[in-house]
Amino acid sequence: MRMNRCNSGTDSKGGLAGFSSLDGRRTVIAVCAGSLCGRTVRYVMKALQIVFAGLDLWMEAHLARAVYCVMDVHYGAPGTGSVLRHECVLRRTGCRLRIRWREREKIMDEHIYMRRVIELAHKGEGWCHPNPMVGAVIVKDGRIIGEGYHARCGELHAERNAIASLRESAKGATIYVTLEPCCHYGRTPPCTEAIIEQKIARVVIGSRDPNPKVSGGGAKVLREAGIEVVEDFLRDECDALNPVFFHYITTKTPYVIMKYAMTADGKIATKTGASKWITGGEARGRVQQMRHACMGIMAGIGTVLADDPMLNCRIEGGRDPVRIICDSTLRIPAESAICRTAQEIPTIVVSAFPELPDGEIAAAENPAKSAVSPAPEAADAASESKTGAESIYSKIRSLQQCGIRVFNIPDRKDPENSRPDLAELMKQLGKLEIDSILLEGGGTLNESALRAGIVQEVRAFIAPKLFGGQAKTPVEGGGVSVPDEAVQLEYKSAERIGEDLMVTYRVKK
Ligand SMILES: NC(=O)c1ccc[n+]([C@@H]2O[C@H](COP(=O)([O-])OP(=O)(O)OC[C@H]3O[C@@H](n4cnc5c(N)ncnc54)[C@H](OP(=O)(O)O)[C@@H]3O)[C@@H](O)[C@H]2O)c1
Repeated sequence: MRMNRCNSGTDSKGGLAGFSSLDGRRTVIAVCAGSLCGRTVRYVMKALQIVFAGLDLWMEAHLARAVYCVMDVHYGAPGTGSVLRHECVLRRTGCRLRIRWREREKIMDEHIYMRRVIELAHKGEGWCHPNPMVGAVIVKDGRIIGEGYHARCGELHAERNAIASLRESAKGATIYVTLEPCCHYGRTPPCTEAIIEQKIARVVIGSRDPNPKVSGGGAKVLREAGIEVVEDFLRDECDALNPVFFHYITTKTPYVIMKYAMTADGKIATKTGASKWITGGEARGRVQQMRHACMGIMAGIGTVLADDPMLNCRIEGGRDPVRIICDSTLRIPAESAICRTAQEIPTIVVSAFPELPDGEIAAAENPAKSAVSPAPEAADAASESKTGAESIYSKIRSLQQCGIRVFNIPDRKDPENSRPDLAELMKQLGKLEIDSILLEGGGTLNESALRAGIVQEVRAFIAPKLFGGQAKTPVEGGGVSVPDEAVQLEYKSAERIGEDLMVTYRVKK
């Protein structure tokens, strides 16, 4: 039997089939153009028929009675679909051609490996904060021999998890990683060390690590150890995994996503303030996923008083974000759902009392010592203020007894502003390692957040409804006078979710 190798695949438009002849010259036999949508298999089959016909002719020309070939069939455009390796034997008896054809193994190309790595990285969503989502796959001789992802902050990184899953030596293998391997001692030892120890020959990296402790250092260490390093492979897709990490690691403040649900006429509640529900179940399910993915969720006291929300994550196996309520004068009722559940779900209430010290009010703090003394020239005002301070502290204590942490962040730069300084709040939350916040405010807080420049992304859920009337909108406040003064957004994507639409924008700075 003569050995032959035959390749078949599809290009982006349809099927591409070919085989290499015995003398090594590759002959493309057929190209079948056409749309891939739903017709891939038909086009691949068509391409294969043409390959077989071509082989038949080739056998005739070479007076061969039988031919054995290995055929790689791409289903889908190269890099996006699966590649199945087949063995086939063609025999000629007279004018008849018999084909025996069986699937041998699934093989993949580099794009498919990296897409698998991205898929793995997603498994860490919601759990690995403030670390990035990272995946890793180790490939040897066209086979995946190890896989891993970064599951939780403080636990092994993706590369080390992939190495731990190895079923055979990784010597000479290629590792695919969504993010440049770290080269410094953090909560875990450097991944570059593990890659070098395993004698891995090649590292294919998606995103560069903007962490100043890494930033090109990982790739450099690997190259210095004689390892081939490929950078920026499917970089856009890998970067899309970690906008939160990229923002947090460089600014030390949370990545804020302003999310709202509105009607097609731009209303987030009816004229009576009712907002349950604007969007359908599927869109609300997506919001639950976003709550799981973000470390914090923030709303204003207006929303708490109007809706008495829980602001938790209701998906099975999901994680509750830290709830942050902006409430300048601590109007939050003790019987609210937030207060009642604060022992179970971490909750922060942010006030803005200029007469109180800045930052977190410690639970054991002595109110008499902590309150700033009133001006000596106004004795009456002083005693009134003391009473005021005492009543504030008594409210703070009762919130703390509910399990709530109270942060006082008055706007020291603008004494006219009686509400918390949101830019300063972001710095304080960043120190608590809160790297991402889902802003589910009403229009008042949303407007302040945009004005303070703390919002990075906007997600508008648009329901196919019209409320009309004097109802609240996603962004209240004074508004701008001319279109040029608008907050500028850059369109990212739009997705239909059930009957609703989710449009994502990046806020231009
Ligand atoms: N459809 C949706 O997606 C959606 C989402 C949320 C809310 N809503 C609806 O929106 C309505 C509530 O709107 P809202 O505007 O009153 O709610 P909000 O923006 O959540 O709360 C506003 C209040 O937050 C307090 N606040 C604290 N710090 C602030 C700051 N730095 N900047 C601005 N405000 C600050 C202010 O009260 P103090 O001065 O007392 O602190 C302010 O009045 C409700 O009808 C609710 O159902 C709809």
